[in-house]
Amino acid sequence: MTALSTHARIAVIGAGAMGAGIAQVAAQAGHSVLLLDNRPGAAAQAIEGIDRQLGKRVENGKLSAESRNATVARLHAAQTIEALADCALIIEAIVENLEVKRDLFRQLEDICDEQCVLASNTSSLSITSIAAQLRHPQRLLGLHFFNPAPVMALVEIVSGLASDPALAACLYDTARAWGKKPVHTRSTPGFIVNRVARPFYAESLRLVQEHAADCPTLDALLREAGGFAMGAFELTDLIGHDVNYAVTCSVFDAYYGDTRFLPSLIQKELVDAGRLGRKSGQGFYSYAEGAQRPQPTSLDSERTVTSCVVEGDLGIANGLIPRLREQGVEVVQRDGAGLLRVGDAVLALSDGRMACQRAREEGLRNLILVDLAGDYAKASRLAIGCVADIEPAALADGVALLQRAGFVVSRLSDSPALVVLRTVAMLANEAADALLQGVASAADIDLAMRAGVNYPQGPLAWADSIGLTHILKVLENLQASYGEERYRPSLLLRRRVAEGGTFHD
Ligand code: NAI
Repeated sequence: MTALSTHARIAVIGAGAMGAGIAQVAAQAGHSVLLLDNRPGAAAQAIEGIDRQLGKRVENGKLSAESRNATVARLHAAQTIEALADCALIIEAIVENLEVKRDLFRQLEDICDEQCVLASNTSSLSITSIAAQLRHPQRLLGLHFFNPAPVMALVEIVSGLASDPALAACLYDTARAWGKKPVHTRSTPGFIVNRVARPFYAESLRLVQEHAADCPTLDALLREAGGFAMGAFELTDLIGHDVNYAVTCSVFDAYYGDTRFLPSLIQKELVDAGRLGRKSGQGFYSYAEGAQRPQPTSLDSERTVTSCVVEGDLGIANGLIPRLREQGVEVVQRDGAGLLRVGDAVLALSDGRMACQRAREEGLRNLILVDLAGDYAKASRLAIGCVADIEPAALADGVALLQRAGFVVSRLSDSPALVVLRTVAMLANEAADALLQGVASAADIDLAMRAGVNYPQGPLAWADSIGLTHILKVLENLQASYGEERYRPSLLLRRRVAEGGTFHD
């Protein structure tokens, strides 16, 4: 099946933030769009709002006046639900309540003909459940846009148990024709993005609860080492802690309390205090007028190092070697167990063990563990964790070496898998379980995380590039360190490692 023709009339029910955005997207793509809301005047107001916003784009030279006028002329406020009778696709974006949504779709079945495709923009309700009492449940699917809909590229096309695959294909093609990046997903809690993204927030929240580092330092590491657009604290401040905490609780409940999704007491306390983030003026950070964002903490070394020794394979951290050489450091390479020696310090990529444990197990003194960087060639900051009894001169040499390569160095307490490696390993593990359970394909999971939450790499491709054996080791060590099911490696990860394959085979 191909995309709906632009002659097909679309209806959007619910003229709030999402409904208005979706209506704008469909109208910009050339469809005539009816907008309906049960609050009198709301649909007309939403169309005025779209007109104003497009007007600003015209003023900034980003849109032609003709384009604006044509889009707005295609938007119509509907007064009654009966007015939607001849629509080819009806997208619901009303209040997030199962019974209210079910009632609406039952009414629509009485009004529309059998060819009309019904779609819900729900982010947390089951499509199977919304469709369950319809006469034709096969024609109901999820069409999950992200906020703001005109800006965010991702659309999750969600199939419930009864959904017709041909209609999923039609909505997929239609979303593409609307300039979006659609992905297919099964109706499981959180679909792709709201499920796979949970560890991004959860691991930073846990690290701050354990006093591994402060919020600005962890945020800076996720941005400047990990390559994420924002750290977890600044991002949840932006989303709103009430919203982010509610999504976590809903996913946690939907998975029957699986501790991988355990909500954070730190975040709950913010919600309880009304510190909801930017919108309330205070979250992890203050947004009061004139408030200064606290700076990340960094180590500074006065030492000068001119050479180091790389013993064996540093794994993905081999990316450090060209960077050191470019800065004139002599790098001697010889066989060994994946260690980098400078002065009396020994550096190694974290494998998920704490430095104290690894130092004891491998008989190493002055051990400094190095975190993952999204790209060692470009990252500007790097986290380290050290044994507690590290000699000051050895620490200074290790830091000086990384500084020489151009990194700002932030020290975390001796925490398993530090911050970027732990976050990426857990994102990949969640993505692997979603793939194992047939929620979506590997390509769609990765695309969803890049287009829906702007991750620098899809978690599965990222894990492939780090090496699945290393990711498995990190998760096993995290699980052993915490003694918690939360870090259990996905069966699919173990299988791929045993097969010697990757997630994208
Ligand atoms: P909103 O509260 O801004 O808008 C909802 C609109 O629906 C209101 O204008 C309300 O008057 C209207 N409405 C409520 N019940 C109605 C009914 N029975 N018939 C007609 N109109 C009705 O909500 P928002 O944020 O736009 O969310 C709408 C839906 O989109 C929800 O299902 C939500 O879970 C989902 N969603 C929200 C996202 C977000 O970031 N806000 C992101 C993705 C999905």
